[in-house]
Order: sequence, then structure tokens, then C-alpha cells
Amino acid sequence: MVAEVLVTGGAGFVGSHTVLVLLQNGFKVVVLDNLVNAVSEGPKPEALVRVEKLTKKSVEFHEADLSDSKALDDIFSSHNFECVIHFAALKAVGESCQLPLAYYRNNVAGTLSLLEAMKKHKVHRLVFSSSATVYGDPQYLPLDEAHPTGQGCTNPYGRTKFFIEEMLVDLCKAEQQWQVVSLRYFNPVGAHPSGQIGEDPLGIPNNLMPYVSQVAIGKRSELQIFGDDYDTVDGTGVRDYIHIMDLADGHVSALERLLGSDPLQGFNAVNLGTGKGNSVLEVVAAFEKASNKKLKYKIVARRAGDVATSFADPKLAKELLGWTAKKDILDMCKDAWNWQVQNPNGFRSSDKN
Ligand code: UD1
Repeated sequence: MVAEVLVTGGAGFVGSHTVLVLLQNGFKVVVLDNLVNAVSEGPKPEALVRVEKLTKKSVEFHEADLSDSKALDDIFSSHNFECVIHFAALKAVGESCQLPLAYYRNNVAGTLSLLEAMKKHKVHRLVFSSSATVYGDPQYLPLDEAHPTGQGCTNPYGRTKFFIEEMLVDLCKAEQQWQVVSLRYFNPVGAHPSGQIGEDPLGIPNNLMPYVSQVAIGKRSELQIFGDDYDTVDGTGVRDYIHIMDLADGHVSALERLLGSDPLQGFNAVNLGTGKGNSVLEVVAAFEKASNKKLKYKIVARRAGDVATSFADPKLAKELLGWTAKKDILDMCKDAWNWQVQNPNGFRSSDKN
């Protein structure tokens, strides 16, 4: 029998790439998304239209918010989900400092409402989209899953991921039937190698790779590098960048591990990273190679809340999920560039930024 999976936030960057890999692996996918951060110029978000073209399979789409318990109830009543993959959330770090209540309402209360619907409809398997941000300022490196969480999270966005994980831990303690994998992503970048789907930030990008990409295509004049006086290889911040296709595969590995023989029980936090760090200057050099463009940049002050270095210990993902990242920083830059060149306005038909 074909397993049916509900994907919340399936029209977003990580969601759409995961939906694609799920379809390629024979799962039936239902997406729920409120389109707060997705382009939709027809009945389905453009990212999903392209996923359907790439896979030659169809996705059922529902425009709804997690706060709409009637909509959730209807979707659960009319399907027989084996598992939920939960991406839907607000994710802009700076905005979360301005609008903390919106972040707690959307992310924490939204998850609560989803968990209540799952419980009511007896769906107890969940793959949750968490973040390495739950580790705060690293006490040691590489970051393994035993590293303390919630201490030194510098912003409300990060705390929503931490609070949700705590909620999931409590739930799994209280009710033995739950099977949860919380995937702690390091820095997802890149795009599907076709260049048909990718990251489509609204306005000025907050994150490094989309900003670099927009400088390379001439949409932004220069990159600002936030500090070159960190204790790192060249003074700039070091992060564990992970290709979006590797990340998407990690979700399918987690799902298969929840559905297979000898499934994981209770709450399991698992890092998704490569285990290798790259500095900002190394990313710039790799992007220059991938795009064959010279990138203009200037060094400015450190950004508040940034840490010097963050990279994963990815051993547990290999042990529990049989998953390891395969692509390197040059693959990530090549695919990000390919997406940018083919889609200068992202999923929009004209430039609204
Ligand atoms: C950020 C978030 C993190 C979130 C993640 C999603 C913060 C403090 N953290 O991680 O919570 O889960 O995005 O991918 O915002 N940089 C520049 N110039 C730029 C942009 C970035 O020099 O214009 C540098 C940063 O200082 C950092 C590195 O590039 O050293 C990566 O930054 P970014 O892509 O924003 O990711 P994180 O800060 O690691």
C-alpha cells in the first residue's frame, strides 16, 4: 500500500525539495501551507507546480493555517496519514526579535494545534523541522545531540524551535505511542540540480548564500561580511553548509526509519549537517568559482547574535537513519547559481523585491 504523508509548510524551500524526494520514493503527499512565504499565482504554489513537472506526479494541496483546527480536522478525517512532516513556521531571525508574539503564536501554538489534531486522529509519527540554533553558543565542537539546548539561544525564532522540542519530549514521555524525529538542520543552501526549484527569499536576504547569489547576478551591489576578527581560519564566521537535496534525503531517511521494521520510538533529536565547516570567505571563493564572477565585498562589524563557528557531529544520523551528506560546498554554490540564473525573480513572473 502507498503510504500517505502530510507535509505542513510543503511550499517552502526545505518543504518543496522534501516533497520532491518523497514523490520520487513512491510516497503519496498532501501539502498544507498558508502561503505566508510562498509564491502562488494559480491554484497551487509555483514551487509545487514545478515539483509536479519534475516528478511527473501530483501533490494534493490545501491552503490553510495550522491555527484553523476545522481545516486540520477535515484533512485528517479524509486521509489515512502514516506520518506528518512538519515544516510550517516563521523563520526570520531579525523579524522574530520585532514580533515575538507572532513567532510564538505561529510556531509554538501552530505546532500545538497540529499535535492535537494528530492525537485526535491517531497519527503518532512526526518528523519535525528543527534547527541547530537550539544549541546556542557552542560549548564544544563538533556539536553533537547531547550538547545542551536552549541556553544562549539569541532570538525568539530559535527559542520557538527549542520550546517545541521540549513540548515533544514531554509528549513522548507521557504517551508511549509517539515516534518523533526532530531534525536539527545546520545551514541549508543550494537548490535542486535542475534549477527549477530553490530558495526564494522575500526582500533583502538575511542569509549568506542567497545574498551572495544576488550579488553575483547584479541585484545587490556588494556583500557585507559581518566581521573578520573571529578566532577562525581567516577571521570570518564558519558554518556547516548542507546541500538542500542532502537535507531533503535526510527527511525521507527519517520517515523510512519511522515506518520500517524496528522503528524508532519516543523523541529522537538528530543533526543534519556535513560535519565540515566553511568560512564566509571560503563560501565567497567557491561561489566565484561556480559562477565565474568576481564578487564585490566589504568587511563590516560583527552581526549581533552570531557565533564564530558552528558545525555538526553527523554520526548519529548515520547510525540511526543510515544517512550522510554527499555534496560539497562547490556543488551547493553551483546549484544555487544555476537556480539564480534561471530564475532571476525567484518563483515570481516579475521582480517585486
Ligand atoms: C541563521 C540564523 C539561524 C537560522 C539559519 C537558517 C542568525 C543569528 N542565525 O544562521 O537561526 O537557523 O540562519 O539558515 O541569524 N554573513 C555575512 N554576510 C551576510 C549574511 C551572513 O557575512 O550578508 C555571515 C554570518 O555572519 C555567518 C555566515 O555568513 O558567519 C552565515 O550566516 P547566515 O547564512 O545568516 O546563517 P547563520 O547566521 O549561521
